[in-house]
Amino acid sequence: MADHAPSVAMEAVLKPSCELPIDMQKIRGYDFNQGVDLHAVLKSYISTGFQASSMALAIQEINLMIEKRLEPVEEGEGNESDEHRSKSGCTIFLGYTSNLISSGVRESIRYLVEHKMVDVIVTTAGGVEEDFIKCLAPTYLGEFSLSGKELRLRGINRLGNLLVPNDNYCKFEDWLMPILDQMLLEQNTEGTRWTPSKMIHRLGKEINNTDSVYYWAYKNNIPVFSPALTDGSLGDMLYFHSFKNPGLVLDIVEDIRRLNSQAVFAKRTGMIILGGGLVKHHICNANLMRNGAEHAVFVNTGQEFDGSDSGARPDEAISWGKIKTDATPVKHSNCTIVKLTKHCKQMSRFGNGHMKLIDTSCSQK
Ligand SMILES: NC(=O)c1ccc[n+]([C@@H]2O[C@H](COP(=O)([O-])OP(=O)(O)OC[C@H]3O[C@@H](n4cnc5c(N)ncnc54)[C@H](O)[C@@H]3O)[C@@H](O)[C@H]2O)c1
Repeated sequence: MADHAPSVAMEAVLKPSCELPIDMQKIRGYDFNQGVDLHAVLKSYISTGFQASSMALAIQEINLMIEKRLEPVEEGEGNESDEHRSKSGCTIFLGYTSNLISSGVRESIRYLVEHKMVDVIVTTAGGVEEDFIKCLAPTYLGEFSLSGKELRLRGINRLGNLLVPNDNYCKFEDWLMPILDQMLLEQNTEGTRWTPSKMIHRLGKEINNTDSVYYWAYKNNIPVFSPALTDGSLGDMLYFHSFKNPGLVLDIVEDIRRLNSQAVFAKRTGMIILGGGLVKHHICNANLMRNGAEHAVFVNTGQEFDGSDSGARPDEAISWGKIKTDATPVKHSNCTIVKLTKHCKQMSRFGNGHMKLIDTSCSQK
């Protein structure tokens, strides 16, 4: 019997490593012997790995946007200012899907808008109407498993594990119809050209409720774009209104010019996009008009294998000119992280033999 292990096995198991860059992040989590310190726990995320590190990178990227936003803007630079907001060194675009307004994330979004921490908003129709409906009647916690048939018989709508009584939409109709009548009157007598963003601004004024995201967007003159504003209950109401009192027009062309101008004339831009679909593409496309945003954080569950824009990694947006080629964008999802980090660039020092390592560590599985 041989007195030592086969060399092929020894070489395979004990294969020597090349040296890693000295400043590479070492993995170490939070030690609760230091006390329950939420700030310190969050700080430890970067060295925790997996989704915790992904979250920390997204925080870093957003902190960079905030830092740049506070930088002074020279005469002739950046977007127009007004009495509500001064010029921003980095115009921050916030996008989110409707379900986030249905959920308690609405209150976090309202805080950002109330305190003028974002400059431009893009959302879907549901992202607009659910905010107003919540001012009229509550949304409830249910279960994902509730029977659709039973709920329909009771007039209860299910959205994930949230429940919205159909009466809420009836209250919404009662609130909205007289406003649509008034908008039509202003269009016919004063020549007002309504757009989705002007309509959301008006509804924010009318709701007059400090719980509302769009009340604060109105107060702080933060534009809210929703090019598919008819794709939801608002569309149902506009449809009914078109029979009752026809003639109201919403111009999406004026809005696309206004949105794109926010990107084109900005000193720098940052995109924070929660979810995919319309909101993700609409913000990215506006930033194509400036040959790419300087900063980007995507938070979504989409995957790229199906060729969807929802699932596309930031690198795909770079190829289209929607994010600048030298940016360090982050995609945070519940499956992986993609960031063109300093570390990925460091890895390239190893040369071609290690390119695969770069691809694996920086790309989505
Ligand atoms: N479109 C509307 O205006 C509207 C109106 C009323 C109700 N709703 C309801 O709101 C929900 C969202 O609809 P939508 O059209 O705004 O967006 P959507 O359903 O088109 O979402 C687009 C993509 O965003 C990603 N995403 C969404 N939420 C996410 C999250 N919390 N975390 C990570 N990724 C997420 C997913 O990849 C999803 O495929 C749906 O339940 C819809 O029925 C929408």
